[in-house]
Amino acid sequence: KRVLGIEGTAWSLSAAIAGWDRVYVEASNPYVPEKGGIHPMAAAQHHANHIGDVIKEVLSSGIDFDGVAFSQGPGLGPCLRTVATAARALALAYDVPLIGVNHCVAHIEVGRWQTGCYDPVVLYVSGANSQVLAYRAGRYRIFGETLDIGIGNALDKFGRYLGLQHPGGPKIEALAKEGKQYIELPYVVKGMDLSFSGMMSAAKDAAQRYSKEDVCFSLQENSFAMLVEVTERALAHTGKNEVLIGGGVGANMRLQKMLEDMCNDRGARFYAPPRRYFGDNGSMIAYTGLLQLKYDMTLEVEDSAVNPCYRPDEVDIPWL
Ligand code: ATP
Ligand code: FE2
Repeated sequence: KRVLGIEGTAWSLSAAIAGWDRVYVEASNPYVPEKGGIHPMAAAQHHANHIGDVIKEVLSSGIDFDGVAFSQGPGLGPCLRTVATAARALALAYDVPLIGVNHCVAHIEVGRWQTGCYDPVVLYVSGANSQVLAYRAGRYRIFGETLDIGIGNALDKFGRYLGLQHPGGPKIEALAKEGKQYIELPYVVKGMDLSFSGMMSAAKDAAQRYSKEDVCFSLQENSFAMLVEVTERALAHTGKNEVLIGGGVGANMRLQKMLEDMCNDRGARFYAPPRRYFGDNGSMIAYTGLLQLKYDMTLEVEDSAVNPCYRPDEVDIPWL
């Protein structure tokens, strides 16, 4: 079987058709803000303007499909509603089931699919989210998460402060490589939870006195150490021996290296998917839709409202 999936929770507008062993086709048209960060209404308008072309490009492959999946949440309300409307129309037009996918679960499932790990502790780090999850009793449970902003948003905000274009994460990674000294920043881990907003303010402050390379370096070392600490504790708690990284910030090679070192020290295995599966993509929605279709986790159109605050632990995971 195959599923056509559409992603559009925030900046990424992307559609794909996936089967069990491959992605057949993927088409994308990302929203790039002219200045500043992501504006929800502008992003939704972008999605409305381009979703027709993105879907046409996928359909022109001629590959048929047995269901239509869409990212039902979490995400920006206006973006979610635009994409859900297209998905409903497509499912009705082709007379196939409609499948609502949790965006966080999709980041996890595409990682498991692409790396072959089975039952990992997951570090899911993106713009809006920073969570440590693991499977227990039928669901992905959240063992720890940010209490304020996601690590990606923290990086992007600091990047904007430096005058870098959105998204700042990759540019900060490049600048950090040139950093020479570590500047102390607030390290805030509370139990299993994290906080990044104080660290971000302190970094802005430090940027008045130190080079941007040094501050970017320190920002990464500090925040990534926090993330690795909580991930390590989740490994200890659960007794699992695999770690999977996912979400846009997961593409950061320094973060990957720190996680890998921690895993090596503990005798755990570290898994990172190919680069194209870190940021939001239609393939992850299509593949997770395929898993859900197998277990009849489909929706009637009248019950398919989006959920901007949809949490991964609300979803049954019968396939693990
Ligand atoms: P979610 O709904 O899962 O929060 P999202 O809309 O934030 O998703 P993603 O593509 O998962 O989208 O993540 C985007 C984030 O990833 C941005 O904050 C961006 O700066 C960050 N990012 C991308 N590449 C890197 C990198 N190399 N280093 C650090 N951060 C990165
Ligand atoms: Fe994402």
